[in-house]
Amino acid sequence: MSIPTLARLDLPEPAVSDAAADIRDHLLRTPRQLPSRYLYDALGSALFDAICQLPWYPVTRGEMRLLEAHGEAIMRAAGEVQHVVELGAGNGSKLAAVLASSGAAAVRRQAPVVHLVDVSAAALATAAQAVTAVAPLRIERYEASYEHGLDLARRATASGRRLVLFLGSNIGNVDPEGARAFLRHVRHTLAPGDALLLGVDLVKPEADLLLAYDDPLGVTAAFNLNLLVRLNREFRADFAVAAFRHRARWNAALSRVEMHLVSTRPQHVRVADAGVAFALRADESIWTESSYKYTAAGVRALLVDGGFHVREQWIDGASRFALTLAGA
Ligand code: TRP
Repeated sequence: MSIPTLARLDLPEPAVSDAAADIRDHLLRTPRQLPSRYLYDALGSALFDAICQLPWYPVTRGEMRLLEAHGEAIMRAAGEVQHVVELGAGNGSKLAAVLASSGAAAVRRQAPVVHLVDVSAAALATAAQAVTAVAPLRIERYEASYEHGLDLARRATASGRRLVLFLGSNIGNVDPEGARAFLRHVRHTLAPGDALLLGVDLVKPEADLLLAYDDPLGVTAAFNLNLLVRLNREFRADFAVAAFRHRARWNAALSRVEMHLVSTRPQHVRVADAGVAFALRADESIWTESSYKYTAAGVRALLVDGGFHVREQWIDGASRFALTLAGA
């Protein structure tokens, strides 16, 4: 995310005027930005699922390997939980993998209530199916942002031990300060004995990172450019989509991959519903998202700063990805 703190994302689809104000605010920053939450409309979610299958994007496969291999250890380390909450459940395949790996019979016996949080209603429906295919668990869905969904889930889980999943290195889409603030917020909604499973992509060679975020098939480019298509459709903008190209760059000093939409020529843009008009120079970019990369020790330090204590950490060597289970 172009560094909005997660605390600002309090509703999944804010009232049009809030969304419009948010878009306007981002576009008028220097450098210009767009809120990355708008990447995930129906087409954006489908393109993201495609990214996860690309040979150059190892994040999802690495995390899945860990969840499948250690699902049982994860559930054991979390203790007997009555509630499992996933923030940003997506298609639900990761939660299904943990449950399947810890054994369908054991899951049926424990019968935790599953709370799925996602901004996409379509994703929630798919995720619920994926979980139910493993075991017939009670499922609550929250079509909401992380923070709002967490709040709803907290109220619905007033009694019983909880395990919160925050996977996919989504914490990397805010800056480390925002990540710490978010973890503190999660910690405050939890009680001692509850647990958080955090999936974070680790620092790796620059060439690998650039391929992961700018793939030869152009799927990531399409994913990023679709943000303009959505703004044209939903906010009466007039971005000349063909006059932009996707650019990913590794910022070593800040340990993040930055995603940009670069204007290939001078152009005027108007976003009618956001009440904003501006000129772009040739080669001027709009920054749409960053993906911060951590070391394994950095992840542990972040969790400790957030008020958690680390119980266990699993690393996928091939993809350089870390799953960390931390107690509240
Ligand atoms: N959380 C994912 C990540 O940071 C999101 C993501 C994957 C992404 N590929 C992307 C975001 C390409 C923007 C562009 O890896």
